Amino acid sequence: MNNLSAQTPYGILGKDGIKALANAFYDVMEERIEAAPIRAMHAENMTEIKQKLYEYLTGWMGGPPLYSDRYGSVCLTSAHKPYAIGTQERDQWLDCMDIALDRIAVQYTSDSKQLKTMLKQPLFSIADAVRNQD
Ligand code: HEM
Repeated sequence: MNNLSAQTPYGILGKDGIKALANAFYDVMEERIEAAPIRAMHAENMTEIKQKLYEYLTGWMGGPPLYSDRYGSVCLTSAHKPYAIGTQERDQWLDCMDIALDRIAVQYTSDSKQLKTMLKQPLFSIADAVRNQD
C-alpha cells in the first residue's frame, strides 16, 4: 500500500479494522448506560446492523462501496426518519464511536490520534445530517 492510499481511514484501518470498529461501536452502545436511549431504538439482536454499519463505513471511509453494492444507494436521512434523533441522540452516537475508536485503533495504527482527528469533523457532519429534531 502506498502512502497516498494510507491517508484515508480505509487505508489505515482496512476492512478488518472497520469491521472491528462497527462491532465495537454496537458493543459500546450496549454497555453504556448513557446510550440506553439509542440502544432501545435498535433491534434486540444487533448482528445485522453491525454488518450493515461495517459495509456502510467501508465505502464512506474510502474503500469499496459494499453497502451500496448490496442495497443500492441509500439516503441515510430517510433511513433514520422513523427514529427521533436530536442533539442528545446524535452526541450519544458520537460518544459510542469515539470510545469504539479508542478500543480498536491501536491495533491498526501507531497514530490513533491522527485517525481520530481525521474522522472527527466528517463523523460529526454525518451524525448531524441524520438528526431530525432539536
Ligand atoms: C445520530 C444518531 C444515530 C442514531 C440514533 C441511529 C439509529 C439507527 C437505528 C435505530 C437504525 C435501525 C437499526 C435496526 O434496524 O435495528 C439505524 C440504521 C442504520 N444506521 Fe443509524 N443512527 C444514527 C446515526 C448514524 C450514522 C451517523 C450512520 C453512518 C455513519 C448510521 C448508519 C446506519 C446504517 C447504515 C443503518 C442501516 C440502514 C438500513 O440498511 O436499514 N447511523 N440507525
